[in-house]
Amino acid sequence: MAFLHRMGWYGTLAIILAGASTVSTTTVAGVPSNPPGENVTMRSVIPAPVERINLDGSYRFNSDSAIAATGEARGVGEYLAGILRGQTGELLPFNNLGNIVLVVEPGHPQNGYSLSINSSRIWIAANDAAGLFLGVQTLRQLLPPPNPNTHNWAVAATEITDFPRFSYRGAMLDVARHFFGVEDVKRYIDEIAMLKLNVLHLHLSDDQGWRLQINGWPRLTQVGGASEVGGGAGGFYTQAQYSEIVAYAASRYITIVPEFDMPGHTNAALSSYAELNCNNRATRPYHGYGVGFSSLCVRKELTYKFIADVVNQVAALTPGPYFHLGGDESSATSLGDYKYFVDRVAKIITDAGKLPMGWHDIGYAPNLPKGTVGEYWDYTTPRGASASLIEWLLDAGGKLVMAPSNVAYVDQKYSSSESIGTNWAQPPLTLKESYSWDPTSVFPSYPEQSFLGVEAPLWTETVKTMADIEYMAFPRIAAIAEIGWSKLNPSRSFEEFVIRLATFGVYMESAGINFKRTPEVPWQ
Ligand code: ACM
Repeated sequence: MAFLHRMGWYGTLAIILAGASTVSTTTVAGVPSNPPGENVTMRSVIPAPVERINLDGSYRFNSDSAIAATGEARGVGEYLAGILRGQTGELLPFNNLGNIVLVVEPGHPQNGYSLSINSSRIWIAANDAAGLFLGVQTLRQLLPPPNPNTHNWAVAATEITDFPRFSYRGAMLDVARHFFGVEDVKRYIDEIAMLKLNVLHLHLSDDQGWRLQINGWPRLTQVGGASEVGGGAGGFYTQAQYSEIVAYAASRYITIVPEFDMPGHTNAALSSYAELNCNNRATRPYHGYGVGFSSLCVRKELTYKFIADVVNQVAALTPGPYFHLGGDESSATSLGDYKYFVDRVAKIITDAGKLPMGWHDIGYAPNLPKGTVGEYWDYTTPRGASASLIEWLLDAGGKLVMAPSNVAYVDQKYSSSESIGTNWAQPPLTLKESYSWDPTSVFPSYPEQSFLGVEAPLWTETVKTMADIEYMAFPRIAAIAEIGWSKLNPSRSFEEFVIRLATFGVYMESAGINFKRTPEVPWQ
């Protein structure tokens, strides 16, 4: 019998060994053996799986390797074929008797997958295609690093049972401060999918730019779309391009959450249409970093006609359940106006068939619909009003997405000597700080069910290129992904995480990700 080696989330030492260890393959009872004495590296996974049992032996790709994936599993099978081709250089055929098997069938972990590797086959099973996709992300990390020039493709035998702690595991990209085109967004989608993130929140409007075509309001993109921080050309998505992003995300089982920030953070709209201003005078385009100076005209009916057009058009293009109305830093709106405004916009959103989501400031609004999602962005130790806002939100039947700015904002500088990044949320933000917190312990009096999940926002005041995005997000977003996915374990350790991250670095490198080689990690 194979030697069973339990290596769950708890097996700290075992996982450390798995970062770099090798096992020799031996015969597993009842299945053909691999070449004797062969050493196959047992690889670690980020986010840490719920349960993993490592076995002796390995699966070796050979001329008989083929993918078996039919029905609902077929699409993920084709995706896997593309991944394997990228990593091994081989394009595997499909064959119903193939030994790399993807199956959709009942009985597997809810929202997760089972993965089993032995010398005769690789087998991933899940209740649906989304679960299979997650299992494929794990398999990618168990494969040797991409190198089409070697044919030494073996994966150490293992049994993994895995499912997420939280249903919402997000990244946010601010395409308003600086604009990023469709291809950049697709690339980011592929990168976050590796970490089993399943939400991409797009911050589509702010003082510096309006980034989506809205029919009937052409100046939003002609004027509001033509600015960005620093005075660059800006840009915007046509509705067809936005739909292309939504569809690409869906092909990676990622939900797009569109955000149009209001009533503050609206200078781009206010510069596009004079009539959205209380004084009927268009503002000037804004290229700076400041916040809190703009507001839609809350007591004007035209404002709500405008918002209804935006919400209805965006809702029709967005299959996901949420519309994010922003609501943060509205210091140019009186509190009375703010409450009136947020309640009214929340109603427009629910009328469009979506659930309202907003930064936690929306907790001020007295009549939020049940199920409203507040995104918490104060520190892990709440200051001032934020704890009351969360209490009001949750007492009204709301849920929380946790993005505490001092640990989850991946636009914060890694260290004071960095040239990219902002530095207002208790800087610097080290990898260790990003990893060393727990979402529920920020508000310990609320049950786990109050927490939908976590998000890693990336604001782009100083972030201008895809390489900048990657540098700020990676590796800190891996810490947020693990907090969102992996089982609550008060004794999880940063020291163990960085050893797994060193292995993950090989995959980031081969994917061409421009990650920060923070000295906190013993990169290989
Ligand atoms: C925020 O960082 N103003 C949500």
